[in-house]
Amino acid sequence: MADPCARRGEDERSSPIPALRWEESPEGPVLVLLDQTRLPSAEVELVCADVPALVGAIRSLAVRGAPLLGIAGAHGVALAAARGADVVRAAAALEGARPTAVNLAVGVRRAGDAHREALARTGDPREAAAAALAAARTLHHEDAEAGARMAAHGLALLDELLPGGGHRVLTHCNTGSLVSGGEGTAFAVALAAHRAGRLRRLWVDETRPLLQGARLTAYEAGRNGMPHTLLTDNAAGSLLAAREVDAVLIGADRIAADGSVANKVGSYPLAVLARYHHVPFIVVAPVTTVDPGTPDGASIEVEQRPGHEVTETAGGVPVAPPGTPAYNPAFDVTPPELVTALVTEQGTISPVTAAALAALRR
Ligand code: MRU
Repeated sequence: MADPCARRGEDERSSPIPALRWEESPEGPVLVLLDQTRLPSAEVELVCADVPALVGAIRSLAVRGAPLLGIAGAHGVALAAARGADVVRAAAALEGARPTAVNLAVGVRRAGDAHREALARTGDPREAAAAALAAARTLHHEDAEAGARMAAHGLALLDELLPGGGHRVLTHCNTGSLVSGGEGTAFAVALAAHRAGRLRRLWVDETRPLLQGARLTAYEAGRNGMPHTLLTDNAAGSLLAAREVDAVLIGADRIAADGSVANKVGSYPLAVLARYHHVPFIVVAPVTTVDPGTPDGASIEVEQRPGHEVTETAGGVPVAPPGTPAYNPAFDVTPPELVTALVTEQGTISPVTAAALAALRR
């Protein structure tokens, strides 16, 4: 295979496209990703035959979202092992591809540990590669199961906080099947409410500058037949003031030991607005996103992305005078006191305290 990261067009795809899958090819195994940078206008697969290609896909956000980054990282280690590459170097490159979502490091380490242990036990690189792949597959499967449990716990919480149903939920960024092995985190809760006949409206923040809400959440909501309306991020304040939102639901990229939540930039202002308007602000995330090794919000490394993502459209059309400097953090941090509840696969934590997080089973 000449191009280690080749593209496949729509004619070759199955429907619906999973966000990520492992495939055997005549040249060896490959990781097939749905290229999320091309959605919603094209459903194109990206075929990664080596770890540098996968690192590029992670950096460009072709594959993205905390849980899926963990699954991709674990499969990347398996890919390196199966292709006879240096697994330790591959793991370091994968872990360093993006800094904020702790799930990436968790996934890479899980597959790396499985590989190292099997190699020490059997001395056989093929056994070790198989162990890394098995660990990646287990993580993928566990994430799907965690999503289903978070959806059930989250819907129960919505029903408790908002008796009478007809939930109007505002969400930010993209947290559905495109970021997980199953149906996602915050989006999965809204989807469960929809299936139960209790979602009146999903308000979708467009999520500047890369438009994960407009491009991806609106795409997923449409595919699932959910009543949804897109808004600019700037319109969330007036929407809340107009009492059109019953709850804000978001995912998370890393939750510090004190309960501070890093998520897509724009989440923190929503939390402030929600508090002012007495609307529950709910974070939905698997236990793998809670990082006991990060003590507080100030210790979370927030990824800074290139300024051109702010000063140009995705097509390269300038929206600011040439040379304008841009501030482009990919995430922000919401303090725990602004979070009404954290929903994990193990249940709901409210209030979000260090003690409650430390008691989660790992
Ligand atoms: O930069 P991205 O698109 O990877 O950011 C994704 C988010 O911020 C999601 O909200 C977060 O990963 C939670 S997904 C369950």
